[in-house]
Amino acid sequence: MTKSTITFVCTECGGESLRWAGQCPHCRAWNTLQEFQVRKAASGTRTRSTTPSKAIRLSDVLSDAAPRRALDWDELNRVLGGGIVPGSLVLIGGEPGVGKSTLLMHAAAQIARSDQKVLYVSGEESAQQIRLRAQRMGALEPGILLLAENDLDAICDSIRVEEPQLAIVDSIQTVTDAGFEGSAGSVTQVRESAARLMRLAKEIGVPIFLVGHVTKDGSIAGPRVLEHIVDTVLYLEGDRRQELRILRAMKNRFGSAEEIGVFAMGEGGLEEVPDPSALLLSAALTASPGTSVVAALEGTRPLLVEIQSLVNATDNAMVRRIANGIDINRLHMVLAVLEKRLDFKFGKSDIFVNVAGGVRVTEPAADLGLALSIVSNQNNRPLPDGLVVIGELGLAGEVRRVGQLERRLQEAARHGLTRALIPSGGKAGRPSGLDVVEVATLAEAVSAAFPSPMKSGAFIKGAGVTVS
Ligand code: TYD
Ligand code: MG
Repeated sequence: MTKSTITFVCTECGGESLRWAGQCPHCRAWNTLQEFQVRKAASGTRTRSTTPSKAIRLSDVLSDAAPRRALDWDELNRVLGGGIVPGSLVLIGGEPGVGKSTLLMHAAAQIARSDQKVLYVSGEESAQQIRLRAQRMGALEPGILLLAENDLDAICDSIRVEEPQLAIVDSIQTVTDAGFEGSAGSVTQVRESAARLMRLAKEIGVPIFLVGHVTKDGSIAGPRVLEHIVDTVLYLEGDRRQELRILRAMKNRFGSAEEIGVFAMGEGGLEEVPDPSALLLSAALTASPGTSVVAALEGTRPLLVEIQSLVNATDNAMVRRIANGIDINRLHMVLAVLEKRLDFKFGKSDIFVNVAGGVRVTEPAADLGLALSIVSNQNNRPLPDGLVVIGELGLAGEVRRVGQLERRLQEAARHGLTRALIPSGGKAGRPSGLDVVEVATLAEAVSAAFPSPMKSGAFIKGAGVTVS
């Protein structure tokens, strides 16, 4: 006997509430609460299992669980934590059109090429559309089986019958379980369908990849509603108008949740980009005022990215601060430190900051590079050629140390950069070919980066920089 009760679940954050409200009490999004039926066993029907499960010693647990299936692309394997784990449920989220179906078709083709079977369930596109895309991508493998289906029972049956090495459900928001109310994409349907696919994956050991669309308007339940159900959550990010795509692990029960994989979208679908720094830096080699190169760390891998700033005097009463690829609050903080500690004035200027290539830099280690790119543009003075800037800024204007400095420096040296500004006091090894300058404060960094006096901006006490 089961009876159902009702709660309300936010389509944005997955938070639950007992009552409906216009605003989600968890994430404060508006009009995102949807009714959700919770099925509970009626009281008195729960029986104790006759064979109680037995605890075992941690040290007796076998460490060599089923081997992972590695794909051809190391960029994908790294984000998955080393390959596909049998029986895992993996969610690939992202905005419509970013390339989720394309990425999964590549993965399907890589498995099918080694005489294995992949079941691709599509509730969105027709079989013809999928064939056309696969053809264009060179992924037309006979080992890929197509199922155009929305009904969860039919999907589960097909997975059971075919027992593929990988099943892909594109997308979870088109799947409906006939046993539940609500249309496809509602919180109830999305959550119940994912939970059933999770049980199926664990039961028969078939890994299942789910596609989940992220939409801004909350009209369908987003992937966040599923984050706690699935084993692994990966988000595919990138500007649709640019070629770079970043697959970012947000949660991974089988590996690090810090890793990223980098891909480029082209005519023939996606390609992996094993050396993203080279791609991101190609445009940065000619120094121009406002451009700096920083070494950010994404998971285990250092990434050289170019930050561009534009400081533009304006007569408008309201100045603008626009940041693409950098947290706007980080920009506000860096500007405040520049104003307060070094007497720069930005009150009458619009400031635009952009990270080249559509990449997002989330690390404070980019603070100093951001500050120097702003100073560089305001004074119309390029930073020295071949310079990489590494350091977090404190509110007192001090340059703080960052993790894994040595790996960042190695990445810079490997890509032909010749100079580095780094926080003082670290014990990192110095790669050969890199002229390293340690700085303790923002003032020291500015005078090291711009050795001759500046036309405007600041009088920096004790740092040898004077206003001419
Ligand atoms: P798609 O994988 O359908 O996105 P999603 O499943 O995330 O909605 O990718 C669609 C976009 O990718 C579309 O804008 C066209 C572009 N694309 C290419 O540029 N080249 C290609 O070879 C393919 C297959 C897609
Ligand atoms: Mg798609």
